[in-house]
Amino acid sequence: MAKWLEGRVIENRHWTDALFSLRVEAPRLHFEAGQFVRIALEEAVARPFSFVNAPEDPVLEFYGIVVPEGPLSPRLAQLRAGDRLLVASNPAGFLVLSEVPDADTLWMVSTGTGIAPFLSILRTETPWRRFRNVVLVHAVRHARELVYGELIGKLLREHSLRYVTFVSRETAPGSLAGRIPAALRDGRMEKAAGVPLDGSSHVMLCGNPDMLKDTQAVLVERGLRKHRRRNPGHITVESFW
Ligand SMILES: Cc1cc2nc3c(=O)[nH]c(=O)nc-3n(C[C@H](O)[C@H](O)[C@H](O)COP(=O)(O)OP(=O)(O)OC[C@H]3O[C@@H](n4cnc5c(N)ncnc54)[C@H](O)[C@@H]3O)c2cc1C
Ligand SMILES: NC(=O)c1ccc[n+]([C@@H]2O[C@H](COP(=O)([O-])OP(=O)(O)OC[C@H]3O[C@@H](n4cnc5c(N)ncnc54)[C@H](OP(=O)(O)O)[C@@H]3O)[C@@H](O)[C@H]2O)c1
Repeated sequence: MAKWLEGRVIENRHWTDALFSLRVEAPRLHFEAGQFVRIALEEAVARPFSFVNAPEDPVLEFYGIVVPEGPLSPRLAQLRAGDRLLVASNPAGFLVLSEVPDADTLWMVSTGTGIAPFLSILRTETPWRRFRNVVLVHAVRHARELVYGELIGKLLREHSLRYVTFVSRETAPGSLAGRIPAALRDGRMEKAAGVPLDGSSHVMLCGNPDMLKDTQAVLVERGLRKHRRRNPGHITVESFW
């Protein structure tokens, strides 16, 4: 059984009315970058959140969106420095590089808050050591939701990160229009990244379950298959709902 640990909010940064990042002081947790943990204000209403911080960072960080009718997220968005947050003692999840086989190119493809686990992974040394190319794809509705610009700018300067963005509900210079599956099918996503997405790639997908389904369908058409420990493949997914 998981124990509940008591954390304290250090900062709640609001990127937009709906998007927020919580930084939380809590007893040390052991996890691998890409994993999640349940958080709560009271035990009965707990939800999984991916870590945004690197495992060695003692301050926990979570990136969330307000789902207006949701039982927990609107309350998390209102937390202030000093408020209590419960954190479960048992991080979990398989969207981690120790489960990903060797490949030339690692694609990390996300919608909305699905970028969170990839930011944790990118804060570690492992992707740069293991893969020749690393591509981060982030699709959002509006340009203002392309968050963590400072961190991504630092990664672009210090590593060979390739960063591709989509903005679906307004015109945004520098971002692709529309959705990931269509841009994968017609070649726009690979062109923007400057590397091919083929059998020499591993694709990690995270976020909206419809994006996961539609993107996997395109990948399977190309001959890629879901990765399983006993039957290695090219696709690893984590659905946020
Ligand atoms: C493994 C895992 C990791 C997760 N990590 C994160 C994370 O890092 N950040 C985060 O914000 N959420 C994350 N989630 C979702 C999170 O657990 C909650 O569902 C979310 O915060 C909404 O909580 P709620 O109680 O307000 O509404 P819920 O009752 O949990 O959800 C209501 C509805 O809101 C929509 N929804 C839920 N989550 C999202 C989302 N992230 N973006 C857009 N729409 C959503 C879905 O339609 C869902 O049916 C994760 C979920 C899973 C399973
Ligand atoms: N984003 C906001 O402005 C906002 C503000 C307040 C509250 N919320 C709440 O947050 C939730 C939505 O969060 P979100 O905007 O982060 O997530 P989202 O609805 O999953 O949208 C994120 C991105 O994923 C794309 N997408 C959706 N379905 C897809 C599919 N089948 N294949 C490929 N791409 C797909 C969207 O494109 P499309 O645009 O084409 O769908 C968008 O570019 C809702 O509950 C909403 O009420 C959102």
